[in-house]
Amino acid sequence: MFTESEPQVVAVTGANGRVGERIVTEIINGHLLDENVPIHLRLLEHPSAIGQLEANAMDWTDIPSSVQNITTTANPEEAFDGAHVVIMAGALPRKDGMERSDLLLINAPIFAEQGQALNARANDKVRVLVVGNPANTNALIASANAPDIPKRSFSAMMMLDHNRTLTELARQLGVPPEQLRHLFVWGNHSPTVTPDIRFTTTGGKSVLDSLPANYVSDTLAPFVRDRGKKIINASPTRMSSGPSAANAAVSAMRNWLAETEGDWVSMAVHSDGAYGIAEDIFFSFPCVSRSGEYTIVDGLNVDSWTRQEIDKSAGELQKEREVIFEYLPK
Ligand code: NAD
Ligand code: LMR
Repeated sequence: MFTESEPQVVAVTGANGRVGERIVTEIINGHLLDENVPIHLRLLEHPSAIGQLEANAMDWTDIPSSVQNITTTANPEEAFDGAHVVIMAGALPRKDGMERSDLLLINAPIFAEQGQALNARANDKVRVLVVGNPANTNALIASANAPDIPKRSFSAMMMLDHNRTLTELARQLGVPPEQLRHLFVWGNHSPTVTPDIRFTTTGGKSVLDSLPANYVSDTLAPFVRDRGKKIINASPTRMSSGPSAANAAVSAMRNWLAETEGDWVSMAVHSDGAYGIAEDIFFSFPCVSRSGEYTIVDGLNVDSWTRQEIDKSAGELQKEREVIFEYLPK
């Protein structure tokens, strides 16, 4: 899929939004698929944003790239027709004082409708990354509404939490981020997300010896958990993360489609009960991936603090599922 010479249909929803627009630019700049893979871009927007999206599409067309054509539409079935790769960023963002879960019933109808459109029109081997919040439960809604597409073809974005963990730890240790291997986050993209650096190394050595006691529970976890809210609060217009979210979305999809090369990534995938986590929620696990097929890294021991935190996250996702239950087909 990653290196096909056949054109790949890539759809982005919310393509005119703060995150979606940046995702499109990253794709056009060659950060998703190898440069020799021709891309047919399908951009989905709310009808109110189609005018500006059409203007942006003219702008993007003037960038030399492997994108052969760009279609703009407000019709999900048209956007997803034959799609191989779908990144879903079309959803309302939270504002001041809201948690991401306050968006559950606001964004659920979007993911139910678009799940049905994916089911009707996407390529059999489509891979779908959900970015719109609350991302884990929106992935559940989209996949439940697409019963003919395997659940393993859906994932919710945890790469931003992963990258926040990576960059904060690199700053703490004074090493370049690319020297850190084998870190990941567990759980929900929410205030219960739990970074895990117990297996992380730099230059082949564990990072734990160079860190203060309780660094993860007292410093790293609060940083990762609060970062999205801190960015919103710092913004005079209360906008949430943009560049880091788009970078994370494109690299998450690229890792999934290509190859994680011996390192681990954080992917919220449909739980099959791994690590004792409840089934039928999208939960972030350490994963490796190759050619669009992920595998949950198994056999890691889970210490008591991590167990307590990941159980909270799983419980939270089960509650989110109850809130949107009416959007899950019976
Ligand atoms: P935004 O308001 O700038 O953009 C959202 C876009 O979606 C708008 O252009 C809007 O017109 C469009 N849209 C609304 N309804 C639509 C529909 N039915 N179909 C297609 N498009 C539709 O918001 P943003 O800052 O780009 O954020 C988008 C979403 O991504 C939000 O839910 C935000 O919370 C989420 N987000 C998630 C992460 C993550 O780590 N998972 C990171 C950043 C943002
Ligand atoms: C983020 O983590 O930056 C995004 O999910 C946006 C938000 O609402 O926090």
